[in-house]
Amino acid sequence: AVSSAVKQGLMGFEAVAVNRFDSVTVPTGYTAKPFLPWGTPLLDGAAPYKADGTNTAADQEKQIGSHHDGMHFFPIDLKDGGTDSGEGLLVMNHEYCDPMILHAFGGAGLPRQAEEVHKELAAHGVSVAHIKRDDSGQWQLVSGSQYNRRITGMTPMQLTGPVRGHAKVRTQYSPDGTATRGTLNNCSHGVTPWGTYLTCEENWALLFVNRDQRMPREHRRYSVSDFNSIMHWETAARQDPLLARFDASAVAETAEQDFRHEPNTFGWIVEIDPFNPSSVPVKHTAMGRFAHEGVIFAKAEAGKPLVAYSGDDSRFEYIYKFVSKELYDPATAGPHLLDNGTLYAARFNDDGSGEWLPLDLADADFRAKAEAAKVEFSDQADVLLNTRLAADIAGATKMDRPEWGAVHPQTGEVYFTLTNNDQRHSSQLNAANPRASNSQGHIIRWREQAQQRFNWDIFMLSGDVFTYTPQHQFMLTAENHHASPDGLWFDPNGLLWIQTDMSGSQLSGGAFGNNQMLVADVATHQMKRFLVGPVGCEITGVVMTPDCRTMFVNIQHPGEGSGPYSFSSTWPDRGTRRPRSATVIITKDDGGIIGS
Ligand code: FEO
Ligand code: CA
Ligand code: CA
Ligand code: CA
Repeated sequence: AVSSAVKQGLMGFEAVAVNRFDSVTVPTGYTAKPFLPWGTPLLDGAAPYKADGTNTAADQEKQIGSHHDGMHFFPIDLKDGGTDSGEGLLVMNHEYCDPMILHAFGGAGLPRQAEEVHKELAAHGVSVAHIKRDDSGQWQLVSGSQYNRRITGMTPMQLTGPVRGHAKVRTQYSPDGTATRGTLNNCSHGVTPWGTYLTCEENWALLFVNRDQRMPREHRRYSVSDFNSIMHWETAARQDPLLARFDASAVAETAEQDFRHEPNTFGWIVEIDPFNPSSVPVKHTAMGRFAHEGVIFAKAEAGKPLVAYSGDDSRFEYIYKFVSKELYDPATAGPHLLDNGTLYAARFNDDGSGEWLPLDLADADFRAKAEAAKVEFSDQADVLLNTRLAADIAGATKMDRPEWGAVHPQTGEVYFTLTNNDQRHSSQLNAANPRASNSQGHIIRWREQAQQRFNWDIFMLSGDVFTYTPQHQFMLTAENHHASPDGLWFDPNGLLWIQTDMSGSQLSGGAFGNNQMLVADVATHQMKRFLVGPVGCEITGVVMTPDCRTMFVNIQHPGEGSGPYSFSSTWPDRGTRRPRSATVIITKDDGGIIGS
């Protein structure tokens, strides 16, 4: 049978070979152009980017952040059908920052300088960029647009859902537990059926420290450090008391020093309305608290609950599903749908069946399991604050680091990357996580069935040439071998785009060259390498305009692990030595569909 992709004239390009060039390589006939690199002036009055790392915290607050990750293009006419492919809002995450690149000479060391910490907080978060194609067909930032916006690690946010107002989210900043400041370590993203952006808090736990010997479970289970936070932000508290919030130790005698609950206001999915620049971002607590990699919706159908999936990217963590209580109605759909519902964790049985296990105190089975495990939850908010513990109790399947999910636009099948897990021992294998020391990762997929059941199979085992996926008699070749799949996206034509995040020796010395992006026809398993990134980068974040003729891809942390005096990458600026995370705009030279 001729594949659907071939029928549509897709997948006709010649695969890119693996390489270690310090550039973005795309197939012959395509062009990739850097766009909106870290430091680009975004807001009114923003200072120009300084290539020596001397931009201030105040500068950074008005510039594009660093470490571009998940991203979406909202056509400017979204409310009227959303077909505009020449103008829109490009919204992207800034996952984290690298002091070696962010600061001149890598920064001043310990204790941290408050000015540097504020620059780092401002490099995190989200950018909303109004962009438009000019008369020559080039994409430009619309300077001065009311839509251009930065959301950072200090932006005021609301908490909604069952945890709002709970005792464990009451802080000095928000004594009634209804608000918090900032979003951090925003990895992948999601897009709601009503046209807003969701950004997901992944490795936030590392940014906090709690030296209390009785560290609470809602910190310990998420690996909040008991000796120091990864960025040492709290060490700048003597210069700026605002920064004491990153030390959650229970040393406080007075409310003024009480930051014990700050970490509990992170680990959520955050909604941002890019078309309403004055809107306050909302953290949706009903969707659970973990290292959210991203969130992906099943096709919304009127009269049915809204369904969304989210992975917890940590070794031996879980895949989750949120099902709204309220039924979806396109006329009234909005944020309220995400504030009331049931959270489930996935169990993958070895026979190819699976089930969604409710994490819900209203469920007798869950209550019985909690009792048997001698675990007490004060209320459903306490369950959500301790989502990982709840999934342990429910008996979900421990996965090899769930990263992005993608829902097939025609079949509704859900695909999920399991990026790697080099700590899975041979005694811990199961059919859904079948490889010990799984350093190369795989992609799993499932089809929903009635009564919170599903059927699953492994779509692909990642690895070197000749890596074989028995379910589909599918073998990797020089055109598509890769490791550590992470970003995942179905384009409107039904092609699956797969992005890699190799690191360490797998990146520096493996068979796979620099990180890459592949595209697959899932019906036939035809798969080709479409892009190879510059030295030291990760490829993450991909979206197209509605006409499928412009693709945006994010290049995160070129030159990672080098600096501050010399860098392993000078992409994209070349002339200056400091590398910068950036978007690339990919077009076909003949104006054709991306992927053809
Ligand atoms: Fe930030 Fe799991 O990638
Ligand atoms: Ca990722
Ligand atoms: Ca990753
Ligand atoms: Ca990365």
